[in-house]
Amino acid sequence: MKVLVIGGGGREHALVWKLRQSPRVDKVYCAPGNAGISEIAECIDIRNDNFEGLIDFVKYNWIDLTVVGPEAPLSEGIVDAFVKEERTVFGPDKAGAQLEGSKQFAKDFMKKYGIPTAEYKTFSSYVQAEEYVRLKGAPIVVKADGLAAGKGVIVAETVDEAIDGLKLIMKDNAFGDAGSKVIVEQCLKGEEASFMILTDGKTVVPLATSQDHKQIFDGDKGPNTGGMGAYSPAPIVTDEMSAVVMKTIIDPMIKGLEREGINYRGVIYVGLMICDGKPYVLEYNVRFGDPEAQPILSRLDCDLFDLLKATAEGRLDEIDVKWKEGASICIVLASKGYPGSYQKGDAIQGLDAFKNSDDVVVFHAGTSFNNGEVVTSGGRVLGITALGDDIKSAQANAYKAIEKINFDGMQFRKDIGNKAIKN
Ligand code: AMP
Ligand code: GLY
Repeated sequence: MKVLVIGGGGREHALVWKLRQSPRVDKVYCAPGNAGISEIAECIDIRNDNFEGLIDFVKYNWIDLTVVGPEAPLSEGIVDAFVKEERTVFGPDKAGAQLEGSKQFAKDFMKKYGIPTAEYKTFSSYVQAEEYVRLKGAPIVVKADGLAAGKGVIVAETVDEAIDGLKLIMKDNAFGDAGSKVIVEQCLKGEEASFMILTDGKTVVPLATSQDHKQIFDGDKGPNTGGMGAYSPAPIVTDEMSAVVMKTIIDPMIKGLEREGINYRGVIYVGLMICDGKPYVLEYNVRFGDPEAQPILSRLDCDLFDLLKATAEGRLDEIDVKWKEGASICIVLASKGYPGSYQKGDAIQGLDAFKNSDDVVVFHAGTSFNNGEVVTSGGRVLGITALGDDIKSAQANAYKAIEKINFDGMQFRKDIGNKAIKN
C-alpha cells in the first residue's frame, strides 16, 4: 500500500515514522515534508493548498490512503475535494473542521449540546467587545474567531491587556479575516490536558492521554507557543476522569455532530482545563496535537495504517487499539527568538547519534537541507522523543539525548514532565 502524508512538521514526521512500521505499507510520500522525513519517505513539493495538484499526484501514483496533518487544508475543504474524487482520506470534511476553524462555531456547538466550557460572548463590533470586557473585568480571555496559527488567544490578567488584545485582533487586523469576530470568555484556572479521540462518526476510540507545555519558558512563563514539549500519559487524567470526560464531553459531542449532519472521520483533539476536579473544554482541534502526536504515536502498539484507513472508511469498530506500557516524552528544541521572529539556516550537529536508537527518536519539524547539511528552517526545530518505564525515566532519557545535539541559539524547556513526576 502507498500512503501520502500532508504536512511537514514534527507531527507529520511521527505519522510517517509510525506508518512506515506497518507491514502493509510499501511506500510513504510526504508533501512537503522536511529534512528528517526525507530520510524515511519521498518528499514531494506540492503545497497543501494545491488540492488539484495533490489529487493528481494521488491518482497518478495509485495512493491508497492520504493522511492530512495540519488544520489549514482541513478547514479549506481538502477532504471534501478528495472524497469527490473517491479517494480515501483521513481527516474531517470542511463542516467538521469548523470545530477548530471557527471558535464561535465551537462555542455555540458546546452550548447547544450542553458541553461544559467557559462562559462567553461573541462580538463583531469593537466598541461592544470593549464594553463587555470592562463590565466583566479581568482576568478574562480574548480569542480571534478564526485560525491564527495558535496565536489568536490572549489570556489577559488585566483589563488593559484584554483591550490591547481586542485592538490587536479587531483594529490592527493582526490575524486578518480570522479576527473579524472575537470571543470574549471567562478565564478558567486549573490544569490543562489534551484528550484526543479517533472517530468515524459512530465508533469512538480514546487515544492515550497527554499534556502539552504551551509557554516558552520553564515554570509555564512567557508567551504561548505551538507547544514546547509533551508527555503521555497525563496522570491528571485518571481512569475516573477519563470516564467523566467521555460521559460529559465526548458522548454529547458525537451526538451533536450527528444531529448537525456532520459525518466526522478523523481525530478530535479536546483541549481540557480541569478545574476543581471538573473538566471543561477550552478548544477543539481537528487534527493530532503537535507535539502531543510524537509521544502518543511512540506509545501506539498497533498498526497505524490499519487504524487510520479504518477510520477513513467508517470501520473503526474493527480495530483493537493497544498502547505500550510505560511513558513517553517529547522535548522541543526551538530556534532563537521563537515564538517571535526567529533565526534560520543554522547547522544542526549530533543527529547521527540517534539513527539506530530504539528508545530515542528525533522527530524533525523546522529543518531543511543546505548543501547536504541539515539546517534549521522553522521556529520549532526538533522534538526529542524518548520512551521509559515511567515519565521520570523517559524524561531522563530525553534530556540525556539533548546533550548530544546542538545548533546556534538552541532553546528548550528544562522542566518538561516535572508536573507529572510531582503528582
Ligand atoms: P486555545 O487556542 O483556545 O486552546 O487557547 C490557547 C491556550 O490559551 C490554551 O491552551 C490555554 O492555555 C489558554 N486558554 C484558552 N481559553 C482559556 C480560558 N477560557 N481560560 C484560561 N485559559 C485559556
Ligand atoms: N500542541 C497544541 C496543538 O497542537 O494545538
